[in-house]
Amino acid sequence: MDRLLVTGGAGFIGANFVRHVIEHTDARVTVLDKLTYAASREALADLPPDRIDLVIGDVADAGLVDPLVAAHDTVVHLAAETHNDSSLDDPTPFVMTNVVGTFTLLQAVRKHDVRLHHVSTDEVYGDLALDDPKRFTEDTPYRPSSPYSATKAGSDHLVRAWVRSFGLRATISNCSNNYGHWQHVEKFIPRQITEVLEGRRPRLYGDGRQVRDWIHADDHSSALVAILERGRIGETYLVGADGERSNRDVVRLLLRLMGRPEDDFELVNDRAGHDVRYAIESGKLRLELGWQPRFSDFEAGLSDTVDWYRSHRQWWAPHKRATEAAYAAKGQ
Ligand code: NAD
Ligand code: TYD
Repeated sequence: MDRLLVTGGAGFIGANFVRHVIEHTDARVTVLDKLTYAASREALADLPPDRIDLVIGDVADAGLVDPLVAAHDTVVHLAAETHNDSSLDDPTPFVMTNVVGTFTLLQAVRKHDVRLHHVSTDEVYGDLALDDPKRFTEDTPYRPSSPYSATKAGSDHLVRAWVRSFGLRATISNCSNNYGHWQHVEKFIPRQITEVLEGRRPRLYGDGRQVRDWIHADDHSSALVAILERGRIGETYLVGADGERSNRDVVRLLLRLMGRPEDDFELVNDRAGHDVRYAIESGKLRLELGWQPRFSDFEAGLSDTVDWYRSHRQWWAPHKRATEAAYAAKGQ
């Protein structure tokens, strides 16, 4: 891993991953990113210019992707449309980027025999009941619910087919919900933090009893490096940090950390097809590759995230008004 191509490297997890790679390895990084509304050049701005290049373009553009892939020895693929709510409003960019974009990348990686790591989500497995003792494992059948998760499932299937049929040197990871610095204000945790910072109340979909399994983005990044360095070709690794919490509990904790009454939230219209619960069993990653999360204290990680959004208002404020206008139109 000397010359690393990171698709979607200007997004939330991509930027955290690039920062982690620059800090913890000697690799030189090229970011390929279309710079959609979800991207942030600022997240990469302070990195050493001799270690990183930014190529602005579409992962579904074969003419651009083919020579770029040929010039690298490893590709980490994060570029995606990622917001479930938006995928319900218009699935088109999800199919184009997540399915066609992944296909385009696979063709180039195959042609030039380059190692690929494909970053995916636990949402491909659908959801679990609140009282189900089971968690997702690498053997859980795929059962995606939303256009977003269906396109991510499709991309995973393409990668596996290219491994089996064409001998592609690829690995896949499916991670649970991330939180941390540089996450767009459309997503649950940054939305609620910035609502409170703007003097409004957090908003829970439906009854707010849905459960997500939270992991800090820095722990996701260290898992990706472990898979790149020690993962077995053809394998899938689930990434999670035992962080199951109901949305209600997360909002109550946030309100307490921000000095407001814990019940000062609103219940708003539910999401169509809303997945009830996600939960990851990450024993394979831990036992085989010796990976451990560093942020085992969710309250401390969340408190640090609140501080970060407090001190980065100039970064998120320009996106806030349009994001809230879109939510308001849906009664959310
Ligand atoms: P994000 O929406 O913050 O960032 C996505 C990035 O991809 C943006 O920089 C965007 O400009 C870029 N992009 C979008 N379409 C592109 C295209 N056609 N060509 C090139 N670049 C394009 O997303 P994120 O939360 O950082 O997620 C990154 C990856 O991790 C995704 O593949 C997502 O499915 C996966 N993932 C996310 C989570 C999570 O909790 N956020 C959890 C598990 C897996
Ligand atoms: P989100 O951050 O969109 O991630 P995902 O859909 O990938 O899990 O949402 C996380 C959870 O929070 C999900 O159950 C939907 C819920 N949610 C709310 O209750 N209120 C909100 O304002 C948002 C954005 C999400």
